[in-house]
Amino acid sequence: MEKDTPQKDKIRRATLEYLHEFFLARKVKEIKFLTLPGTEWIFERAMRTRFHTYSQHRIITTITACERDYKVFTISAAKMPGSNRILAPRFSDKLNHYVVTNHKEKVYLLHMDVFDLLSMFKDNIKDKRSVFDCIWLDSTNTVISIGRKIEGWENKLAPNAVVILTVLKGREHVKLETDRVTYISNILAKYDLKLVHQWEYFDTSPMLHLIFTKEQQLPELDQIIA
Ligand SMILES: C[S@@+](CC[C@H](N)C(=O)[O-])C[C@H]1O[C@@H](n2cnc3c(N)ncnc32)[C@H](O)[C@@H]1O
Repeated sequence: MEKDTPQKDKIRRATLEYLHEFFLARKVKEIKFLTLPGTEWIFERAMRTRFHTYSQHRIITTITACERDYKVFTISAAKMPGSNRILAPRFSDKLNHYVVTNHKEKVYLLHMDVFDLLSMFKDNIKDKRSVFDCIWLDSTNTVISIGRKIEGWENKLAPNAVVILTVLKGREHVKLETDRVTYISNILAKYDLKLVHQWEYFDTSPMLHLIFTKEQQLPELDQIIA
């Protein structure tokens, strides 16, 4: 993986290792991953390589990526993994937003807020495209701003789902009655998600990286990082 800040790179590696082990242990052969790749797709590129390369450990990965900033979206579109030519954005009437689709490689980039996507079609449990095995919200928001937007996820998470939140460990604008990890864990507990790993690191600010699953933890992230 490329290095931007060494600690972020370490987080990406550990997360990738964790997810591959997690899904392999559950004999999952195909996953749908929802992510915020920014412009570089560093994690997503590494994930495709890791998950697709070895036939005996292959997990076919469909990547749905959101980017709400149009300028970042256009840069990101030009760097989408899986294509050596630039794919043009088109307007999706269904989503009411611009999208870039690469069906062959199963990579999709949407110019929309990820929480808007998660609240769409939420009553349509038959729409498998909007049920995710893994969601990584890698943002520079605080737990309160993320926590307020998490609602109606009942039909959005596959039975073995993993949800990863990377949040700013900054001062909250509102006083919390519990610590920030308990606050967000209580919100995700409504969807049967339990905190299995918690790591603090410094990128350009202090950050918290939290992994929640619908099951008990496996394997130990600390062992992977060591
Ligand atoms: C921290 S960067 C992503 C970094 C990337 N995952 C990495 O490993 O380097 C977060 C990106 O997500 C976008 N973003 C943040 N919150 C979002 C939201 N709610 N919906 C869509 N995009 C969002 C930001 O504009 C930014 O480009």
